[in-house]
Amino acid sequence: MHKLTRRNVIVKLTGTGAALMCPAILNAQTVDLDWDNVPTTAPIGQDRLINVDAGTSQIEISALQPGEVAVIARPTTDETYSATGMIQYIAVHHRTPDQITFGEANDQAGTVQNSTYFVVNLVCEHRGKAIGITGDPNVPFACTDRGSRHSSNYNASGIGVSGASEGDSLSFPDYTLSVEGDQMILQLA
Ligand code: FES
Repeated sequence: MHKLTRRNVIVKLTGTGAALMCPAILNAQTVDLDWDNVPTTAPIGQDRLINVDAGTSQIEISALQPGEVAVIARPTTDETYSATGMIQYIAVHHRTPDQITFGEANDQAGTVQNSTYFVVNLVCEHRGKAIGITGDPNVPFACTDRGSRHSSNYNASGIGVSGASEGDSLSFPDYTLSVEGDQMILQLA
């Protein structure tokens, strides 16, 4: 079983509005910053990925604190992920109490198993480019393709709020969350 460590934390999303972040430390950027030259094949923060093998996988995520996001990378044969080099990137966001309230009001039925943890595929609904983590808790997910016909931004429930995928929802992996003693286990099918 894989174990999430503090090194795997990409960003902490707290409060409202743009988060205060240090890109040099977190390797993450806000949407307002220039994303023109970022690669579209992988999310921002890729040096902190939790790399797992293809197929089913278990990750112990107890170390993820409220507000924090980590990203799992898993090889796949699913053509949905051809634009990301056949790698399925999956974000895990441990929500704060306010973010749980937002999720319970806005999450689409059947997409979130446990409202404390938001687990979502980082693949854009438009043309399958990688979704980056912005650091803005109101718009935490954004397509890495910032072209004029792309530039999708998604809210904390994974719903497109602007750009080419406005109104569309990010997809969700097949997963289960379970508690074993004092451990929270994410099982990817
Ligand atoms: S591929 Fe993401 S907006 Fe076009």
